[in-house]
Amino acid sequence: MVVHLGATPVIVDVDRNFHIAPDAVGRAIGPRTKAIVPVHYGGQACALREILALAGSHGIPVVEDAAHAAGAEYAGSKIGTHGRAVCFSFYAIKNMTTGEGGMISTNDGDLAARMRLLSLHGMSRDAWKRYTEAGSWYYEVLEPGYKYNMTDIQAALGIHQLHRLDGFIRRRQEIAAMYDKAFADLPEILLPARLPGRNHTFHLYPIRLAAGRLQLNRSELIEELRARNIGASVHFIPLHRHPFYRDRYRYRPRQFPVAEEIYQGLLSLPLYPKMTDRDARDVIAAVREIVDAYRVPAGRFCEEGVSSAAIAAQL
Ligand SMILES: Cc1ncc(COP(=O)(O)O)c(C=O)c1O
Repeated sequence: MVVHLGATPVIVDVDRNFHIAPDAVGRAIGPRTKAIVPVHYGGQACALREILALAGSHGIPVVEDAAHAAGAEYAGSKIGTHGRAVCFSFYAIKNMTTGEGGMISTNDGDLAARMRLLSLHGMSRDAWKRYTEAGSWYYEVLEPGYKYNMTDIQAALGIHQLHRLDGFIRRRQEIAAMYDKAFADLPEILLPARLPGRNHTFHLYPIRLAAGRLQLNRSELIEELRARNIGASVHFIPLHRHPFYRDRYRYRPRQFPVAEEIYQGLLSLPLYPKMTDRDARDVIAAVREIVDAYRVPAGRFCEEGVSSAAIAAQL
């Protein structure tokens, strides 16, 4: 979207909890900065207070990417209530879905009116306001808009999904708790942090392989899991590694050392509300079996610092 609007996407590094790092945002702000777009990665809110304060001190708007964060909470209230523009995704794999589509929440009435106008051809009245008894046939096109409205069919799905969202989240949290408990004694695997002041909705359960402790890498682990009928994936390949961003904006891995380090050992374990306890136990058994088979013998593993230096040397 940033590129479609004719702007330049400026990518900054993350912190060790996978979130955009406020100090990196601070360093990247310049006279041409139009907005800050933090992601609430994996269903857990980013350092929103710090980002909003930083943006406020520079007079720059924040557009929150809450694609993973429907139902997530930060400082006692839901994501979507803190900011002036918060974007949700209802794509099929998200915590709630309308098949495709999404939602923007705002606490600014003027912005809401403009977004409604732009989302339906720039017309001053939508079909309900023209064709229902209380409506009027008259409307005006006020600016060149888009056709970005949610369909009634999607909305019918979404209303019912919304009623089930809390239950979906509870089940995700139960499975995440099973994983947390099952892997707590494995130094080979780093578990996702639960940050204070948040309700983590576990859209994702990303784990990391501790550097130097296993004789297999992330891709090989995914293959070993696949051989045991367990699907795992990587969320995400850092943007700067994709050819478009790499080639057009000349981003290089060495500019994003934390993202690079995380990416080397990153994978997401299966997590969805219909998983049974038995499904989760199958995942746990497979991971433990692989870790046991590939563990570097005690006393032989290289320290994380050594390994980070090795990664840095490759960049
Ligand atoms: C972090 C993040 N932001 C934005 C999106 C885009 O959402 P949509 O496909 O509904 O436009 C996704 C989609 O998967 C996402 O993971």
